[in-house]
Amino acid sequence: MKKAILTLLVLMLADVSNAQGVNMKNVLIVYGSFAGSTAAIADSMRSCLQTKNCAVDVMAAAGAAINLDKYDLVVIGSAIRGDNIHPKVKQFIDANRPALNKKKAAVFAVCITITSVKPQKREHARTYPGKVACGLHPVSNVVFAGNAPSAGRFGNWMGKMIFGIVPGDYRDWKAIKTWAESLTALY
Ligand SMILES: Cc1cc2nc3c(=O)[nH]c(=O)nc-3n(C[C@H](O)[C@H](O)[C@H](O)COP(=O)(O)O)c2cc1C
Repeated sequence: MKKAILTLLVLMLADVSNAQGVNMKNVLIVYGSFAGSTAAIADSMRSCLQTKNCAVDVMAAAGAAINLDKYDLVVIGSAIRGDNIHPKVKQFIDANRPALNKKKAAVFAVCITITSVKPQKREHARTYPGKVACGLHPVSNVVFAGNAPSAGRFGNWMGKMIFGIVPGDYRDWKAIKTWAESLTALY
């Protein structure tokens, strides 16, 4: 009797783990980061998606073509510098464009002007995900506020006058988690 119950339990457990395996989705997060804040955002997305039954790979963008076959979703993120995306992100998309065009992709941009007190600067920051997409058609896109360290007294003053920004770490981990979780409904 004991043996029969034990066997039943083992079978039930095997069934549960099988079901999880079947439903598990594969996500790739590719990021371009100059100073680390976008890399940390990508990492926090990984943790978040892992709690949602996703197998997640995270990699810094590079120019080589890679095999994307196994991925159900590719998330591409870039820090913004000088109004542009990270060059490696563009290289990654160009090198993998045919495969990416057949995949579900989502993009995020990380910048500071989304925190500006000047509405036109915030408006402009909302165009950054379009730059990250580089011609792809993402199923979701978002701008996150990043981390802008102090640029010294004069630099900070210039930043305030011209861009309406104040240095600081503006990363909103709750918003990042909410967006990452929303992606699970898209594939
Ligand atoms: C030299 C430099 C140029 C930047 N240019 C822009 C910009 O054009 N627009 C913007 O919104 N943020 C700009 N930023 C802010 C960065 O996007 C922000 O600090 C972001 O968190 C950087 O991400 P990373 O740490 O992954 O490199 C700039 C920051 C630096 C240091």
